[in-house]
Amino acid sequence: MHKITVIPGDGIGPEVIQAAIHTLDAIPVEFSFQEARAGNSCFEDTGTTIPDETIKMAKNSDATLFGAVTTVPGQKSAIITLRKKLDLYANLRPIKSYPGVKSVFNDLDLLIVRENSEGLYSGIEKFTNQGATAMRVITRKASEKITKIAFQEAYKRGKTRLTAVHKANVLKKTDGIFRESFWKVAKEYGKINGYETIEVDEVYVDAAAMFMVTKPHRFQVMVTTNLFGDILSDEGAGLVGGLGMVPSANIGDHNGLFEPVHGSAPDIAGKGVANPTAMILSVVLMLQFLKENREALKLEQSLLNVLKEGKSVTPDLGGTSTTMEMAQAVKDNYQKI
Ligand code: NAI
Ligand code: MG
Repeated sequence: MHKITVIPGDGIGPEVIQAAIHTLDAIPVEFSFQEARAGNSCFEDTGTTIPDETIKMAKNSDATLFGAVTTVPGQKSAIITLRKKLDLYANLRPIKSYPGVKSVFNDLDLLIVRENSEGLYSGIEKFTNQGATAMRVITRKASEKITKIAFQEAYKRGKTRLTAVHKANVLKKTDGIFRESFWKVAKEYGKINGYETIEVDEVYVDAAAMFMVTKPHRFQVMVTTNLFGDILSDEGAGLVGGLGMVPSANIGDHNGLFEPVHGSAPDIAGKGVANPTAMILSVVLMLQFLKENREALKLEQSLLNVLKEGKSVTPDLGGTSTTMEMAQAVKDNYQKI
């Protein structure tokens, strides 16, 4: 029995969460779900975007599923607070093409490993006489840890190249530390029995942004700091069919939280047309984390079949199905394979 905390959030968050959990009904694994609140509607009711109770529940469960929240300027970010409180220092974002989905590239399979706990999202901002400043915190410890995770994921996925993305030529001190830490870990982790097993390289973030659209195949696994990883993963989503397609795993030493890369999409919320793919793929990542690898593979395959067939997909994928109809098709498919 896996104890799962579910945080639906705002906008399309609850819609894609409901759809993804519906697909879990098909899986012969026992889950107990407990729902927790976060986001803007939670703020309106309780005066906080992220109650302590939610953090406690997420901490004490085997995994957490997070839909999406609407962030109003000035409010505390629910997701960033959760990442911090649960020490979810690694954010894994697989950018993968699926058959049947109109994409810029139809054979991409790369992984963005984003440092999740510091960088420009440290939340240390202050007003000054002239305007405002934000603190970009980069530590050796977090940079080494995220590089180790990137190597582990590269080995796990059979990848042969790992690329560090930074801007150390301008951010000499902060990205200087990130770069140094990366190469320190690479010396040790890039080799097995003294033989180089993973090719290691580095690219400045601006060039990386260009290569992502001109020759993304040069990347297999990218490791980078918080803001750069956020931006590059949305860029990656654009290459494989849009924000409705890309999931993410937030991992720490004790907890895992799984969420789509997209936000609450107020422009389509309430219409029942949100693409549930990113959320279902986040469930796939959760199943892997829970070591339910067979079910993870089967769920991904069912989704792949539905996408390939193209009959039961949402409008952003060129179909006419609702979020729940697409989830139902995935569930039906799961039961067939
Ligand atoms: P967004 O990701 O919500 O939407 C961007 C565009 O992608 C919209 O046109 C939307 O309709 C489309 N889109 C997103 N997910 C989709 C899906 N599953 N199916 C079909 N189309 C989809 O980003 P936006 O508009 O910048 O932000 C909206 C709100 O979400 C803001 O309040 C923002 O702060 C919040 N946000 C929350 C995140 C989170 O909860 N982790 C992450 C990013 C944004
Ligand atoms: Mg983002």
